[in-house]
Amino acid sequence: MNVALIGYGKMGHEVEQLALSKGHRIVARCDPASRGQADVALSQEILQDADVCIEFTHPQAVLENIRKIATIKKPLVVGTTGWYEHLSEAESIVQQNGIGLVYAPNFSLGVNLFYQIAEKAAELFNHFEEYDVFGSEIHHRQKVDSPSGTAKKLSEIVLKKFTRKKRVINQPLSRAITAEELHLVSIRAGQFPGIHSLTFDSPADTIELTHTVRSRSGFAVGALLAAEWIISRQGFFTFEQVLTDYLA
Ligand SMILES: NC(=O)c1ccc[n+]([C@@H]2O[C@H](COP(=O)([O-])OP(=O)(O)OC[C@H]3O[C@@H](n4cnc5c(N)ncnc54)[C@H](OP(=O)(O)O)[C@@H]3O)[C@@H](O)[C@H]2O)c1
Repeated sequence: MNVALIGYGKMGHEVEQLALSKGHRIVARCDPASRGQADVALSQEILQDADVCIEFTHPQAVLENIRKIATIKKPLVVGTTGWYEHLSEAESIVQQNGIGLVYAPNFSLGVNLFYQIAEKAAELFNHFEEYDVFGSEIHHRQKVDSPSGTAKKLSEIVLKKFTRKKRVINQPLSRAITAEELHLVSIRAGQFPGIHSLTFDSPADTIELTHTVRSRSGFAVGALLAAEWIISRQGFFTFEQVLTDYLA
């Protein structure tokens, strides 16, 4: 597969390393901050040999990149986060140009499989009144958002499948929590790249499900999987749809 890297920062480098180790070729690197390591501007000429583009840039750059790449008619994987207010516009651009695009707030294979495990666990424990559920997430001190996007997704999953819980509480409480409230707390400290836990607790036992990030390479694994998948497709997809297809 001939890959074009749009954005050659931390994730661009991570994807490059993994792609090369899997025998793919990097045919273009596009990044305004590259200082000679990459091409600055995105153009038809730079992308001519690419089978697929993988985009990890900046929220403000995404929509314009999608527009340019769609005009050049190349399939695209978008890993950049924080641009989702433009999703419907991006979808129209993709449909109008007949290209394929996969996006995800989290391309980690482990996290996406963890969602499925969490969903099944919530569904199972929901059958038994003895069990309660809560969650937690820990990230490094530099992280600006709280709770994390992954924690929000886990909350949605629990609310959907564990029907005794009706709403999420992320803040500390100055009162007893009610049975209908799901407590999912965030901790910010040290250098943790990301730990998410869901715990089911009863008078008899405790079951803890935890996903711990070890490195950014997990995001690259998912992005490359999505790239291989989208090459032969047209349309606007999430990574969830890619995984569903792989697991079918
Ligand atoms: N979906 C996932 O699984 C996942 C995982 C990790 C990270 N992310 C997201 O991916 C994005 C990038 O993360 P990162 O850690 O690689 O950040 P990074 O190290 O800052 O790299 C981003 C690079 O893209 C460049 N860039 C900005 N505008 C561009 C444009 N129009 N065309 C090409 N390149 C452009 C940036 O240059 P400047 O420095 O000049 O702006 C920077 O060099 C972030 O939004 C992050 O949240 C997503």
